[in-house]
Amino acid sequence: MADARRIDEGSALLRAPYPRASAAALDRVKVELSRALGDSKLRVDEDALFAFAGDESDQAPVLPDIAVLAATPEDIAETLRIATAYGVPVTPRGAGTGKSGGAVPVCGGIVLSVIGMNALEEIDASEQLAVVGPGMILADLHAAVEREGLFYPPDPNSLKTCAIGGNIAENAGGPRAFKYGVTRDYVLGLEVVAADGTPMTIGRRTRKGVTGYDLASLLVGSEGTLAVTTRATLRLIRKPEALATLLGLFPSVDHTMRAVEAIVAAGLAARCLEVLDETCVVGIREEGVSLDARAAALLIVEVDGDSASVDRQLQDVGQRAMDAGAVEVLVAQDAAQRDRLWEARRKLSYVTKRMARWKISEDVVVPRMRLAALVQDVRAIGERVGVRTLCYGHAGDGNLHVNFLWDDPEDVVKVERALEALFRSVIAMRGTLTGEHGVGSSKAPYLALEQSGYVIALQERIKAAFDPKGILNPGKIFPRRGHGSC
Ligand code: LAC
Ligand code: ZN
Repeated sequence: MADARRIDEGSALLRAPYPRASAAALDRVKVELSRALGDSKLRVDEDALFAFAGDESDQAPVLPDIAVLAATPEDIAETLRIATAYGVPVTPRGAGTGKSGGAVPVCGGIVLSVIGMNALEEIDASEQLAVVGPGMILADLHAAVEREGLFYPPDPNSLKTCAIGGNIAENAGGPRAFKYGVTRDYVLGLEVVAADGTPMTIGRRTRKGVTGYDLASLLVGSEGTLAVTTRATLRLIRKPEALATLLGLFPSVDHTMRAVEAIVAAGLAARCLEVLDETCVVGIREEGVSLDARAAALLIVEVDGDSASVDRQLQDVGQRAMDAGAVEVLVAQDAAQRDRLWEARRKLSYVTKRMARWKISEDVVVPRMRLAALVQDVRAIGERVGVRTLCYGHAGDGNLHVNFLWDDPEDVVKVERALEALFRSVIAMRGTLTGEHGVGSSKAPYLALEQSGYVIALQERIKAAFDPKGILNPGKIFPRRGHGSC
């Protein structure tokens, strides 16, 4: 997690600070919260507040004025009611593992932590659903439902530390999204609290249901700007019977992209299709994964289903990889080998962070047939602007983590140029700015590259309908108009 003590180091991009709530309003809010919740659920001293200042994005941490450790939906309702009454911003927070600044309280005010609300309330095996609190850690949910022969597919790489509430706020994805989709595809219903403190139940508990607008789907991915989740009903599926993992060793990342394009175009049903470029492979080796010397770039493919179909898929995918120029295709021999490979892949974000003083990681998406072109564009942008780049990610979905790395604080200007060039290139390819990390504060300045003024204004009107005073997670998603608006 980001350490707020890095604030003065100029760790991230050059963004002007947002205005904060008045001292008088904050004092009143502290008194009222103390009366309503008790002091044990509040943190107001600076040392304790550091833990709520940052997330795992490149966004500079910002110290909040108050942290609320919610234990019940009523705590959340009281906090929002009081915050609305005094116009003090509230930044909802799960585990703080987000990658777009969603949990960074850019306007200060209140951080509302739901991490204590981590109950697994119910697994209904016959209806194939689970009911959980927003603070539940994703890996704990995976383990609990898999013990019942069930499966919850979303698997962002922070799965051992991220919370369901944050997954819902950002509509988290992960490697398995290629076959199974993202968090939104598994949220049936939500209990939430509106900005003024009113509790609401939205969505459903049934497999089907089309009553009214699909507010639950709207809330998923709304980045904490519309309401705060207090309980989620999640759709489960049956756990696949068999699983196999294949590692393709390639002479270059361009070859891996060609393999991905061929596998996707053939409609082969892998569950994950991940690529790692040359720089990532250096990092993976440093993590202790021993690889054939000819492996410059990697393709990780995972297939599942019944055993017969798994064997057939392995054959098909392996053949396409060889046709695209793989020097070798290996199949993980046991669970330990597979786990080692995934462990290294899942740590890639941290491993690559060590490669430079600063790193910015994007999650752009392009049509899958444009992946090779995107990789070439990224290389060209890096060379033209003069910053180091690397790429890895969920290539089956066309979702690539393009990273820019720099050591000299002055180079931040170059990085800003590289970012804009990347986003323009992606949009020109009919792609999208973010596939799974959300807009947050990091991509808010670029929203208009992808969406028209009308579409942005429409979303702002929806936001205003949910949160007329604009207290919920200000500074996220929407570009700033004038100087801030907390
Ligand atoms: C990953 C994160 C960065 O895929 O989304 O590793
Ligand atoms: Zn990812």
